[in-house]
Amino acid sequence: MPASLASDLHAEFLQRFGYEPLLVRAPGRVNLIGEHTDYNGGFVLPAAIDKEMVFAVGLNGRAEIRLVAHDLGEIFNLASAADISPSATHWANYLLGVAAQFQARGLAVPGFDCVFGGDIPIGAGMSSSAAVECGLAFALNHLLGAGLAPMELARMAQKAEHTYAGVLCGIMDQFASLFGRAGQVVRLDCRSLDYAYFPFDTRACRIVLCNSGVKHSLASTAYNTRRQECERGVAVLQRHHPEVTSLRDATLAQLDKHRAELDPAVYRRCAYVVRENARVEAACQHLVAGDLAAFGREMYASHAGLRDDYEVSCVELDVLVEAARAAPGVFGARMMGGGFGGCTINLVAPDQVDSFIASVGAAYRQRFGRVPETYQTTIVDGVGEAVVATTAA
Ligand code: GLA
Repeated sequence: MPASLASDLHAEFLQRFGYEPLLVRAPGRVNLIGEHTDYNGGFVLPAAIDKEMVFAVGLNGRAEIRLVAHDLGEIFNLASAADISPSATHWANYLLGVAAQFQARGLAVPGFDCVFGGDIPIGAGMSSSAAVECGLAFALNHLLGAGLAPMELARMAQKAEHTYAGVLCGIMDQFASLFGRAGQVVRLDCRSLDYAYFPFDTRACRIVLCNSGVKHSLASTAYNTRRQECERGVAVLQRHHPEVTSLRDATLAQLDKHRAELDPAVYRRCAYVVRENARVEAACQHLVAGDLAAFGREMYASHAGLRDDYEVSCVELDVLVEAARAAPGVFGARMMGGGFGGCTINLVAPDQVDSFIASVGAAYRQRFGRVPETYQTTIVDGVGEAVVATTAA
């Protein structure tokens, strides 16, 4: 995050509103492995990254809400914070949805001002929306002195996405943005919400994201459909195994035994989730053992499952993964996030990064006529206060 962005937003806030704001930064995330497992009570392995949203926020002592999307150059005003409801202004919903969650907990939300912007590419699968939600949740919690715990803020941000953006997401993105820790990935058990950090040194193994540039307009519909398919699978298993309340509890043996009762697509979705949970656990063991090659094999297997069984990949992502597999110095690659576009995540030996970017870029251009954007990310701390640099170092 360029330090100048916090300074710019701070200056813009002062100029527009004339009082000192609270400054907050909220990172996007990567997910090393564990895709579409969060809403199935399973495991994920994300980290917060150095692509962030920054917010200048203050209580204005009036009734109104004034929001400024710095990057879009757009303003949204609501006459009274008491009248929050979903808006036709798409970007404002991520903020309004969070404020509504405070109200839903019986916390009065007075008028506030917010100027925000950042460098998380939108629709690239790095969770720009979760960063927007979590940044404002943190800011309001602070300004209102509400004393809500970070996990509660994550839940509220997730609920905001459900109710104001219409995506029935799991908790991974919001959790990662709030709980990220510099230099560490974090394995979250999405059923118990227990979590454990594992060191990940991006100087020894680079995390490179390749952006397919594809944004599927039906992605949120397909996402919600996948979720329903998993629920249908659980309902069938539950008739025979009452203890199965989510796919986290299911086994491949159970799925195979009752396969005849499952729609073929539902069977494939469920089998993918059960296998992916096992892959996250295996991947963590490989990480602890320092075996990046074995870790990478889990990533390739994850991609194959997402492509063939969960069916959330697309040809652009598949080409990026195959190009990575063919490049020297790559430990593993797979699509990342909800799917249907966005980025692949690639673990690459540091001395091979330049040739990796060149060869994947060439393969992609040959097939699709354009070079994908790539990002080398580092792992940073989760949401926190931001500071404005007053003097040059
Ligand atoms: C999106 C959702 C997450 C998660 C991933 C897929 O990023 O917001 O909750 O389900 O897709 O793993």
